[in-house]
Amino acid sequence: MIRFPENFLWGAATAAYQIEGAWNEDGKGESTWDRFCRKPGAIHQGDTGDVACDHYHRWREDIALMKDLGLKAYRFSISWPRILPKGRGAINPKGVDFYARLVDALLEAGITPFATLNHWDLPQTLEDDGGWAARPTVAAFVEYADVITRALGDRVKHWATHNEPAVVAWLGYHSGMHAPGVKDLALAIRAAHHLLVSHGQAVPVMRCNSPGSEVGMVININWGMPASNSAADREAARKVDAQWVRWFADPLYGRGYPTDAIIDFQRAGALPRGLDFVQDGDMAAIAVPTDFLGVNYYTRHVIRADVDENDPQDVFPAEHTPEHWMEMDWEVYPPGLTAVLARVYFHYQPRKLYVTENGASYATPPNAEGRIPDVHRLNYLRTHLAAAHAAIQAGVPLAGYFAWSLMDNFEWSRGYSQRFGLVWVDYATQQRIPKDSALWYRDVIANNGF
Ligand code: FCB
Repeated sequence: MIRFPENFLWGAATAAYQIEGAWNEDGKGESTWDRFCRKPGAIHQGDTGDVACDHYHRWREDIALMKDLGLKAYRFSISWPRILPKGRGAINPKGVDFYARLVDALLEAGITPFATLNHWDLPQTLEDDGGWAARPTVAAFVEYADVITRALGDRVKHWATHNEPAVVAWLGYHSGMHAPGVKDLALAIRAAHHLLVSHGQAVPVMRCNSPGSEVGMVININWGMPASNSAADREAARKVDAQWVRWFADPLYGRGYPTDAIIDFQRAGALPRGLDFVQDGDMAAIAVPTDFLGVNYYTRHVIRADVDENDPQDVFPAEHTPEHWMEMDWEVYPPGLTAVLARVYFHYQPRKLYVTENGASYATPPNAEGRIPDVHRLNYLRTHLAAAHAAIQAGVPLAGYFAWSLMDNFEWSRGYSQRFGLVWVDYATQQRIPKDSALWYRDVIANNGF
């Protein structure tokens, strides 16, 4: 029997754009994802989040589902353009009310709300002025953080500023795979800096508006390793780690930007004027102490020198079976979760950690009896929970785990082709059916282990 610490926060996670739909209702402004999804070829089969899981209208039913599963916590994100349709300035009261009702209903159901401010859906008006690559977006984010924590800070006591700033910066502004679809490394480096500074400046404001709350950041860390012991492969792995992990984690924990990555970026011609975007006080602001670090873990990257550094995971020795690979084409590698948690804890010493996302995409449909026997997802959860537990035993102060995702949803550039949910969503009827993995997870929560 694997037992978790008392008061371990068992949850599931979602993000606004991936589930809410209602993209232009009740005064919501356009987001970069609303715009990007309309760009021909950007998204698998031209899918959009216009309707998604229609959670904006079905949130009561969804909270009832969470309650049935016994979730102790729910990690969701707030859509910035619902709150401030133009990114700053006029507040949309209907947007604020939506989240206020959601939070009240969660609390009434005994579920702890865990809110993320930026899960990627930037107001398009801000993007029109340069988005994250432009310095004024920092002040706009602090304004948004102020508005929403004033409104909900008495009830929400767990806040994350950004979700996966590396993905926003590198996929949004360098590879162009995500909104806003910019392909410019120099701009992406600025975007990364502005995301970090906006976090640093927002944290004290959020603490002030939400006394006694926990405030932190969520970063994505997969387990990276060189494909061989050759100098070239090890150098490639170093580069990926510097750009994807240390470029964010080092400054957050007061170490500044990693020198090796600065040299890499200079060699790539992406820092023609050095770090001229770093203003006085920025690095100190970014290093503001936080209450937790959220870690999103999915897979391992095995890195070979001759493979595109933006897509390092396409080399791997394991068999291509569903047991070893999810449909997203990410390897299933549970020991990486133990390794990642131990790495960030022992290296950076955050006060505590949450696994803020972990999960697998498998499209197992309902069978003739209407049950969904998603064995591969269930095994993924079981082996990863065991891996998280191993990290706890090694001394990592892991305080909670959020399965990605509560329900099947819009998976960014992959549209609806990837199903990560504990709960099946029939997109034609919006019917929800808990999969076998959800029922298993319910027992895990009830027993605080398995
Ligand atoms: C993470 C995102 C989340 C989801 C999963 C599969 O990078 O934070 O929204 O799409 O990947």
